[in-house]
Amino acid sequence: MQQGGARRIDRRTVTRALTAAAGALALCDPWAPFPGATTVAAQETRALKDLVPRGWLIGVAINQNQSDERDTAAVDLIARQFNAISPENLLKFESVHRQPDGFTFEAQDRYVAFGRQRGMAVIGHTLVWHSQTPAWVWAGSDGGLADRATMLERMRVHIATVVGRYKGRIRGWDVVNEALNDDGTLRDSPWRRGIGDDYIAKAFEFAREADPGAELYYNEFNLATRPAKRAGAIRIVKELQQRGLRIDAVGEQGHWRLNTPTVAEIDQTITELRATGVKVMITELDVNLLPPAPPGPRGQPMPPESNPYVNGLPDDVQQALARYYADAFRVLLKHRDDITRVTFWGLSDADSWLNRGRVNHPLLWDRQRQPKPAFGEVVRVLASTK
Ligand code: XIL
Repeated sequence: MQQGGARRIDRRTVTRALTAAAGALALCDPWAPFPGATTVAAQETRALKDLVPRGWLIGVAINQNQSDERDTAAVDLIARQFNAISPENLLKFESVHRQPDGFTFEAQDRYVAFGRQRGMAVIGHTLVWHSQTPAWVWAGSDGGLADRATMLERMRVHIATVVGRYKGRIRGWDVVNEALNDDGTLRDSPWRRGIGDDYIAKAFEFAREADPGAELYYNEFNLATRPAKRAGAIRIVKELQQRGLRIDAVGEQGHWRLNTPTVAEIDQTITELRATGVKVMITELDVNLLPPAPPGPRGQPMPPESNPYVNGLPDDVQQALARYYADAFRVLLKHRDDITRVTFWGLSDADSWLNRGRVNHPLLWDRQRQPKPAFGEVVRVLASTK
């Protein structure tokens, strides 16, 4: 005891008090799992990778905290549940080739090793896209767009270097991403403006040259909700085939919303894409539960009606999400011979790109990495076919 009644507060006391306060805060964490979570948790003894049809890959997009193995709880879950990984951002042009004369491969090598060490299929995403690509790629010397030959050579070097480095180790590549407008016409991407419509064919040609053994995919969103866009994707596939180029699958990204696309639309989409002869993949699956973002600059405080699930998901929405995932997987299973991979875009709700300043709940695991009723439903649907 201190003399004179004045209690000395040492650092340990402060630390203890802070820890206790943090614990109390955690108890009223608005993101705490909903009450049903514990019952579903019991089902997590089941692994998606053991339940999917033979020949299917079931994947997850992982972030750098995961591929660097800093997020160890996530790493355990990823390894337990999935047999394929996609890189959420690491293999995009701006991550791997930010400057004209320099490639970065450290974290990328760790991503590839992460999957190889665990016997997973390692996916490459993505080579040619209008987004997350540095401006120098398209820039000409006069401040305008580079000419066709220059841009083609930049594309070739990029693909030869990145695909070549992981030759025999990356199973397949999203060669071209999102080349279409919703009406099925070709997007006015700087790649297309600089090279011409055949930039897509050229990308596939360069990718095959760099690794003849890798699978090559065309990846796109809204194929299920926009028939005209789907027709555009089919045109792209046919054109590649006519040119004698390799294309193994079309990826429908699968950024879906509750009840849209409908089961019938998913069914029709797979049937139509598969009719070209290539396989179908759902490459970036998540189910957005939030209303469209309000207009205005990002980072503004969100009006409450735009961010309704800050305190967790009400049970009726939780159940509706579970039902939607169940319906979707039932139709995917109907097409088990047409589909080769289903990949979720993120592991848990805490990891999802769909939060973006709000609180979204689009995946099978909640923010505490507890399985949601949707996980239980997907397990039930997959297990019913075994
Ligand atoms: C997203 C990532 O998840 C985010 O972290 C990043 O900020 C933006 O890109 N379609 C795609 C993916 O093909 O690459 C996108 O990923 C999501 C939409």
